Amino acid sequence: MSTSLWRQEVSKLEAYVPGKSIEEVKKQYGLSEITRLASNENPYGPSPKAIAAMNAAAAESHLYPEPTSAELRHKLGELYEVDPAQVLISNGADNVLMLIGQAYVNPGDEVVYCVPTFSVYRTSTVVMGGVPVEIPLTEDYKFDLDRILASVNEKTKLIYVCNPNNPTGTIVDSDALGAFLSRVPPHVVVVLDEAYGEFIDVEGYKTGAEYVREGYPVISVHTFSKLYGLAAMRIGYAIASKEVLAPVLAVREPFPVSRMANAAALASLEDTDYRDFILSTNREGIRYLTAELGALGIDVTPSYSNFVLANLHRDAVPVVDALLRVGFIVRPCRSWGYPEHIRITVGSPEQNRRFVEALRPIMNA
Ligand SMILES: Cc1ncc(COP(=O)(O)O)c(C=O)c1O
Repeated sequence: MSTSLWRQEVSKLEAYVPGKSIEEVKKQYGLSEITRLASNENPYGPSPKAIAAMNAAAAESHLYPEPTSAELRHKLGELYEVDPAQVLISNGADNVLMLIGQAYVNPGDEVVYCVPTFSVYRTSTVVMGGVPVEIPLTEDYKFDLDRILASVNEKTKLIYVCNPNNPTGTIVDSDALGAFLSRVPPHVVVVLDEAYGEFIDVEGYKTGAEYVREGYPVISVHTFSKLYGLAAMRIGYAIASKEVLAPVLAVREPFPVSRMANAAALASLEDTDYRDFILSTNREGIRYLTAELGALGIDVTPSYSNFVLANLHRDAVPVVDALLRVGFIVRPCRSWGYPEHIRITVGSPEQNRRFVEALRPIMNA
């Protein structure tokens, strides 16, 4: 079939290229054990309470889910001190970002963000006929809020700030973010993608929901894929004022979240001990990887997430290949314009230790 039948905007896009799957690597290299440190997944999996809740919900799979995720919105409303009507649940943060594009971007509207960052901002803009305005990160790999502001004009509709940013793990200064939001003109909506926001470990750091409570036209986007280990369940959410959420709700499909995903998310929020355990092992993992990689001459960007960006100071591709051969999948960063970097998800202490053991001879070779 000719691509001339495609919508024009779609021909500007390419299908997402996923990293190598565990099954693929096992087969290709004849390995029985693989450790994937490439997709920023939770190394421990979901809370046992979430697994029990999913099992119970599975028996009701013949019934459509409750369409508004009312109980979960109520729980999140309590957690973030917002009205449950200010919370929208959908089928993963990816889906929330695509819905924001559908809700807000007219052909010709400009959407500003820094690069490299999460690829879905571009997709959700281009597919709607919007114009992505891509500004480089600062030298220390942070969103350049001043340059973003300088590029805002009457055509600007959305600004994305990925905080912490994927793939760099960096955050913007809390004071700088507050000052930035107060300078954004009222015809622009700011999307704070906080998929990794729960990992920020800075005393007094202000996150998206607080800006929403203060009345800024901000959409704070979250996921249950990372901290809560529910990546396969596909559930994420947005927090914003009712007015800002209204068009997003209007384009959302009727039943975007399965019963199992809803049940798992609720149980995960209740299991605060498990959440604290994940946060503390992640913190320790960042410390460990930063120190151990540093000892190998690798520069690790200070990370506020569950992954680290590591500058190997040499072509990363042979290193990534050598790691694959011994059963470790990490993310090469060439497609983000960093040919000498890899992105490593923080694993369990045991996985981190084995990873460093595997990397050492490769770096010393
Ligand atoms: C910055 C960022 N935003 C959003 C997402 C999407 O999360 P979800 O799994 O909920 O679709 C990811 C996933 O990796 C991400 O890195």
